[in-house]
Amino acid sequence: MKSILVTGSAGFIGHNVTALLLEQGFEVIGVDNFNNYYDINLKIFRNEKLTDKNNFTFYKIDIENKSDLENIFKNHKPDAVINLAARAGVRASIDNPFVYLSTNALGTLNLLELMKSYNIEKFVLASSSSLYAGEEPPFHEELDVNNPISPYAASKKSAEMIAHSYHHLYDIDVSVLRYFTVYGPAGRPDMSYFRFIKSIMEGKKIEIYGDGKQKRDFTYIDDIASGTISSLKKVGYEVINLGGGMVPVSINYMIKLIEHILEKKANIEYKDFHNADMKLTSASIDKAARILNWQPKTDFEDGVLKTCNWFSQNEDLIRNIRI
Ligand code: UGA
Repeated sequence: MKSILVTGSAGFIGHNVTALLLEQGFEVIGVDNFNNYYDINLKIFRNEKLTDKNNFTFYKIDIENKSDLENIFKNHKPDAVINLAARAGVRASIDNPFVYLSTNALGTLNLLELMKSYNIEKFVLASSSSLYAGEEPPFHEELDVNNPISPYAASKKSAEMIAHSYHHLYDIDVSVLRYFTVYGPAGRPDMSYFRFIKSIMEGKKIEIYGDGKQKRDFTYIDDIASGTISSLKKVGYEVINLGGGMVPVSINYMIKLIEHILEKKANIEYKDFHNADMKLTSASIDKAARILNWQPKTDFEDGVLKTCNWFSQNEDLIRNIRI
């Protein structure tokens, strides 16, 4: 396997997966539509770190546009597709459910159709721990997950299902990765840790939705990037959790940790718990160990420290990022 099409290459996970693929000597064709769901200065920042690499080619296109995508398949004929282009906000998906379905489900369908036409065998699809709403933790991949509680989760479930049908019909080899709340440097400004670190640094108020006791199985970005690349192997069709592997931590604990690292107190305002949110996510990661030989390496305290350090080193960029 030599050349990989990475969609969403200017996004948080897409950028890090692309950077690691390039480091490992792959040819990467990156596509991203630079949508403005969050401040595009972060996407520009990430993309600029890659564009000088000679094994990287970038196209500003939208996976919803099949004819634009087709040109890429025609010109590059990649060996595999990693689909990391997505609308990814759990709570934001309530405000604009249409774009969630069209990007996450129809965009995925466009890619699968083109893979079928151009005989491309390997597909990696980003999915989400939010599919496990209502299930007993720790979450195993065998659970049915038929009760999504946000349009976002429903759109990811749709993408998983359409990928399954293309596996069945056309023998496309599919790794579905259910990521568990991914965090790290240059991450997404709509997510809790980004908002908390920035606001605490700048002495601004933070908002907690609920009592802050909700817990997440946070997963550090470097572990996600390596797990994603490991999943390029042939598996048939498999759903695989990539989770932090520690005991899930509460939002309150994360804030305490950030306060400790930054040596600053948070100014907290409590808001209602959001009914598209889960109280707890907790991954079983045995399958990832078995199939991908993958184990997360970064514990939460270390990951938050690295993330806070990145914020401190990039204060000028961060100051102007809208959250
Ligand atoms: C995250 C990602 O945003 C999704 O893209 C991903 O699919 C999902 O994880 C996953 O694991 O699959 P979420 O769990 O909502 O979703 O991540 P955060 O934004 O970090 O929120 C964690 C908790 O903090 C939520 O309960 C949220 O309501 C809360 N929160 C968030 C606050 O209390 N205040 C904020 O300002 C932001």
